[in-house]
Amino acid sequence: MKTIFEPFRIKSVEPIRVTTRDERKKLIRDAHYNLFGLHSDDVLIDLLTDSGTGAMSAAQWAATMRGDESYAGSPSFYRFQKAVKRLMPFRHVIPTHQGRAAEAILFSIFGGEGQKIPSNTHFDTTRGNIEASGAEGHDLVIAEGKDPQSAHPFKGNMDLALLEAYLLENGDSVPCVMTTITNNAGGGQPVSLANIQATAALARKFGKPFIIDGCRFAENAWFIKQREEGQGARAIPDIVRDCFAVADGMTMSAKKDAFGNIGGWLALNDNDLAEQARNHLIRTEGFPTYGGLSGRDLEAVAQGLAEIVEEDYLRYRIRTNEYIIERLDALGVPVVKPAGGHAVFVDARSWLPHIPPLEYPGQTLAVALYELGGIRGCEIGTVMFGIHPDGRETAAAMDLVRLAIPRRTYTQSHADYLIEVFEELARIKDNLSGFRITRQPRLMRHFTCQFEPLQA
Ligand code: F0G
Repeated sequence: MKTIFEPFRIKSVEPIRVTTRDERKKLIRDAHYNLFGLHSDDVLIDLLTDSGTGAMSAAQWAATMRGDESYAGSPSFYRFQKAVKRLMPFRHVIPTHQGRAAEAILFSIFGGEGQKIPSNTHFDTTRGNIEASGAEGHDLVIAEGKDPQSAHPFKGNMDLALLEAYLLENGDSVPCVMTTITNNAGGGQPVSLANIQATAALARKFGKPFIIDGCRFAENAWFIKQREEGQGARAIPDIVRDCFAVADGMTMSAKKDAFGNIGGWLALNDNDLAEQARNHLIRTEGFPTYGGLSGRDLEAVAQGLAEIVEEDYLRYRIRTNEYIIERLDALGVPVVKPAGGHAVFVDARSWLPHIPPLEYPGQTLAVALYELGGIRGCEIGTVMFGIHPDGRETAAAMDLVRLAIPRRTYTQSHADYLIEVFEELARIKDNLSGFRITRQPRLMRHFTCQFEPLQA
C-alpha cells in the first residue's frame, strides 16, 4: 500500500487557525524574522522540534489520573522505574525534569577542567553541559555521517579507529565514552547494534564507563531491525535491551521516545556514582522518587514507553519521514539522505546557491517556508554556529533547515501540504534574498537574534 497508515484514530483535536500569506508576512516581520519569536497559534504546521510536542494516547491520559503526588515513595515512581527497567536494565533510574537536567548531573560527576568526552556527536545541550563544567566534548562520527548524500545505513556510527586513537592519546583525561542514538545533530541517523557493542568494548578495554544518550532509542531500534544483518526477525524491545545491556548508564529526554510532554532520566549501574547523582538531584531537581516531575508525568512516561516500541507505530513514524524525503528529492530539493528518524533536513546552501552563507540561506528558506505555507522549521547553520567567542563570524559547515516531525501529531495530508509548499517554493526560490542580523545576544544567538531582509 502506498498510503501511510496512521495507526490511531483521533479522539480529541486541536484546531489550527488558518492564516493567509499576507498575515504571515506581517507576523514574521513583527517577530524580526526569527521563527522562535512567533506565537505558535500563528503557525499552521509546527516542525520546530519533535521534543515534547507529540500527542499523548488515551491510555496515557488515563494513566495521568493515577498520578500519585506523594513527595517520597510514590507508586507512580515505581511504575515509571519498572517501565524503564523493562527496556533498559540499569540498576539505578533517577528521574529528571528533562534530558538536559540528566546531562547536568552526569557532568557534575564526569566533567571538570581538563576532562575530554568523546561521542559520535554530542547534542547541543550535552556539549553545553560538558563545556559549562570546564570539560571538552569531541565528535567522532564516521566520515559518511558528515556527507549529506552518503547512503550508508548507519550514518550515526562512531568511528572506532578514531575513538581508539583518542583513548590512547587522552588516557586519564577521558572520564567516559558516549554515543547518541539516533544521532540528532547528524540528521537523526541511526547507530548499529554492532557499533554500539564495539564502542562499549573499546570503552571497557580502556576502563571507561560507556553512557548512551538514548533520546530516540526506539527509532534507532527500528532502523537496526530494518537495516542490520540478523536483526530483521527480532522484537523491538529485545533490540532495545541489547543496546543498553552493554552500557554503564544513560541520559534520556522522555520528550522524545517516551511520548512525554516533559520528563527525562539518568540511569547508572555504579552504586557510588548513583549516590552522587541522587545527592545532586535532591539539590537541583527534587527527591529521587520524583526528580522535578509530578506523579502524573511519571505515569504518562511509563505508559508512553510501552507504546513507543510498537511496530505499527514505528513503521508509520519512519515511513512518514521517508515519504517526505522521497517526494522532496523528486522535486530536486536537496535533502539529507537516507531518511533519519525524527526529522527532514534540507540543504539550503545548495538549494539557494545565490545566497552566500553569511547572508543565511538556511534562515532565508525557513522564513520563506513560513511566509508561503505557515510551516515553522529551524535553521541549523551559520545563524546557529557561525559566531565565535571573539565576535568573528564564519560560515558553518552546512546551512540546513530541520523540519522535525512531532510524534502522532500530523497526518499524511499535512505531509502532502508540506510537499506542495516546497513545489511552490521551487518556482520562486531564485528570487529570494538573504538577511542581515541587526541585534544579537552574546550567547546562543539563534533563539533571540533579530534580522532584516537584505532586499525588502
Ligand atoms: N539529547 C538529544 C539527542 C536531544 O535531541 C535533546 C533534545 C536532548 C539531549 C536534551 O533533552 O530537551 O529534554 O533537555 N533535543 C530537542 C530537539 C530539544 O529539538 O532536538 P531535553
